[in-house]
Amino acid sequence: MYHPSVLTLLTLAAHARCQLLDIPAVDELVSSALKPLADYTDYDGPTGVASSVISAATPATLFNVHATVEASDASYWLAEIAHQGVAAFNPNPSGYTVFRNVMDYGAKGDGVTDDTAAINAAISDGGRYGPSSRESSTTTPAIVYFPAGTYLISSPIIDYYFTQLIGNPNAIPVIKATAAFTGLGLIDGDQYQSDGNQGWTSTNVFFRQIRNLKLDLTGIPASSAATGIHWPTGQATSIQNVEIAMSSASGTQHQGIFIENGSGGFLADITITGGLYGANLGNQQFTTRNLVISDAVTAISQIWDWGWTYQGLTLANCTTAISINNGGVGNQLVGSVVVLDSTIQDCSTFVASAWETSPSSNGSLILENIVLENVPVAVNGPSGTVLAGGTTTISAWGQGHKYTPNGPTNFQGTFTTPTRPSALLASGSSRYYTKSKPQYETSSTSSFVSIRNAGAAGDGSTDDTSAIQSALISAASSGQIVFFDQGTYKVTSTIYIPPGSRIVGESYPVIMASGSSFSSISNPLPVVQVGKSGESGSIEWSDMIVSTQGSTPGAILIEWNLAADSGSGMWDVHTRIGGFAGSQLQVAQCPTSAAVSAACEVAYMSMHITGSASGVYLDNVWLWTADHDLDSADNTRISVYSGRGLLVEGKNIWLYGTGVEHHSLYQYQFSGASSVVAGFIQTETPYYQPNPDAANGPYPRNSALNDPDYSSCLSGNCDALGLRVLNSNDIIVYGAGLYSFFTEYSTDCSTFPTPENCQSEIFSVEGSTTNLVVYALSTVGTTNMIVKNGTSLAVVSDNLATYAATIAYFTF
Ligand SMILES: *[C@@H]1O[C@H](CO)[C@@H](O)[C@H](O)[C@H]1NC(C)=O
Ligand SMILES: *[C@@H]1O[C@H](CO)[C@@H](O)[C@H](O)[C@H]1NC(C)=O
Ligand SMILES: *[C@@H]1O[C@H](CO)[C@@H](O)[C@H](O)[C@H]1NC(C)=O
Ligand SMILES: *[C@@H]1O[C@H](CO)[C@@H](O)[C@H](O)[C@H]1NC(C)=O
Repeated sequence: MYHPSVLTLLTLAAHARCQLLDIPAVDELVSSALKPLADYTDYDGPTGVASSVISAATPATLFNVHATVEASDASYWLAEIAHQGVAAFNPNPSGYTVFRNVMDYGAKGDGVTDDTAAINAAISDGGRYGPSSRESSTTTPAIVYFPAGTYLISSPIIDYYFTQLIGNPNAIPVIKATAAFTGLGLIDGDQYQSDGNQGWTSTNVFFRQIRNLKLDLTGIPASSAATGIHWPTGQATSIQNVEIAMSSASGTQHQGIFIENGSGGFLADITITGGLYGANLGNQQFTTRNLVISDAVTAISQIWDWGWTYQGLTLANCTTAISINNGGVGNQLVGSVVVLDSTIQDCSTFVASAWETSPSSNGSLILENIVLENVPVAVNGPSGTVLAGGTTTISAWGQGHKYTPNGPTNFQGTFTTPTRPSALLASGSSRYYTKSKPQYETSSTSSFVSIRNAGAAGDGSTDDTSAIQSALISAASSGQIVFFDQGTYKVTSTIYIPPGSRIVGESYPVIMASGSSFSSISNPLPVVQVGKSGESGSIEWSDMIVSTQGSTPGAILIEWNLAADSGSGMWDVHTRIGGFAGSQLQVAQCPTSAAVSAACEVAYMSMHITGSASGVYLDNVWLWTADHDLDSADNTRISVYSGRGLLVEGKNIWLYGTGVEHHSLYQYQFSGASSVVAGFIQTETPYYQPNPDAANGPYPRNSALNDPDYSSCLSGNCDALGLRVLNSNDIIVYGAGLYSFFTEYSTDCSTFPTPENCQSEIFSVEGSTTNLVVYALSTVGTTNMIVKNGTSLAVVSDNLATYAATIAYFTF
């Protein structure tokens, strides 16, 4: 079922990877990587990149033990707080341990003892699902905690699904590889199995994190192809505050982060030194922020992508800062890259590209607000320098196809820098404001109140509404931080989060709406309401999930009304609608074969940022209506129906690394919104559409919410829009991937390069919208890529790239 061009891509990438590993390219690996599309459930396109499954041979070097003086541990609330997490839908909730300190499993952290087995025992304990044992599971959440220390390992830490590997941020633990280390990654996030396949389908690996660790590869000989983190991954995953140290000896074969495929994902605050590649990256789409890479030969090697947003890079002392020329002229495997607010120092070349004027738009590149210091070549093309460097600032430069608003025009050069709304900038800076997920490093345990101690049961069946509500009110007034111990907290009416609240979850506890309050499709009610209309102040909310149980067509999972200046927001907070144990919306209740029934109508809207809201900051947020059952043995597809994705009506909004999937009316709608910066944004249309299509689904149009009126859609399939911008001003999108893979569960409509007609349109601009810029717009399976006031501006056949079709620059 794969198009030959995909096979070419796989083969080339496999050769590239094998070269890196210094082993012969094995074409069988490529063929074994080709699975029928039907094997994928959360289907995110067939551009998997074959990679060697064989870890590099390491020379038989004797390892001299250098005993490291053990760093003394420092206080950190997450380690010290009482651990009362309960995995509510685990078969044995009282016997299952959520929080695991590696020391309790025998790790020594003394820099001498081999801690590999102890760390892996901490991860696997308790009947959890390892690689290849099952596609996914939500019933075994775990935090694996590392106190300060140096943990010596000789083979990979095998990461599991739904796992957070967290170090003490106040005394960062070091994971140090022995000289004879073998395996793909000090941390292997998706271990290759003996059959040549990854342990999990990378596009389906959700809900996990790595934070506050230092990985030390410097003991491994430079000539060994050693990898810090192997991280093929899907949505709702993040790596934050991690340092990777590698050899910078001449000829080094080390690489810091290796991602060969997936549908991700978020990386932030990562410092990497040395290596052949600081990061060697391929994935459909990704958002990264604050990557600091120095002394690597190539700081970032882009293996392939449809879109990748790099914000706040600091790349220093390298040969090439970013290579996007993999595959070479005429077969460039990189769809698009956006780089903003970055500094490149002492590198020979900033970007190495293979872009040429051509009908295809592979290698689309956008550079905005980049400081170069001693970088002789800014952009190198196939015939030499296309943008000279030096010590200078690039305010806006790009290559690819542009529509302003008509096109396509092949362009390579400068363009008008958009005016960035000043409210979105960091104070005193030309850069956008950013804020990393709070970890409350300096807060003591007494600053926290456990929601379980406050009387909530979190067992998935007790009604916890009033216990949660009173805990939130009292914590906001006393200034305490609310800790949601792992659990599933059933609520039967709205939970109000008052201004001043700070809330943090233990491995994504769930607030699950249930019952008759949420049953009216014409009288919807918020499940979680952040501030009331007219209220101001800020909140911080991280590491949680909001869900529904049973029939809840009137549930608005998150309603945001609060007005703030900045810094008020959510980090790693997701909606997960249907498809998990306890939801009563699984294979048994909502099989794809069933007709639409009220029993599987599960949400009016995932998230509403209302007109009274301002200063709303979202970091790595995935609003997901389930397309498959995470707790079925093989990720069986289901049909659950939700109305709207993310509706933004407010102003001063940061959307960094957000995705919205499978809602029936639209995924993102900006309506009357102003001053929004967004990137990367990713959407998928429901797989059941067009049966029923967007206009005829269970959720009738509500004109008060300016729902789209699909009566005027272009001919073809009127499936849900991915992005609709209506009467909105000053909206800048740094990378968008709007995907429609299916018509009624068949992918025949999305095969590359034709027919690409699962739906007729996916991005619509309407009304009095002004100052809209969209960079690196990629679509899949959509005939018309841009529709303005009902007129098509761009058709897919003019913009074919690497599986997705891509437009580098759109404005009007
Ligand atoms: C990712 O790459 C591996 C290795 O080539 C391959 O086996 C797998 O099918 C790919 N996954 C996806 C979802 O494309
Ligand atoms: C630059 O990188 C090289 C190796 O990549 C290293 O040997 C050298 O020390 C680095 N220089 C500085 C100034 O960091
Ligand atoms: C773009 O990528 C596709 C898929 O890999 C490939 O077939 C095509 O040759 C590439 N075009 C260019 C101009 O690089
Ligand atoms: C859409 O059409 C209206 C009416 O002609 C016009 O005022 C508006 O500017 C148009 N909007 C866009 C985005 O072109």
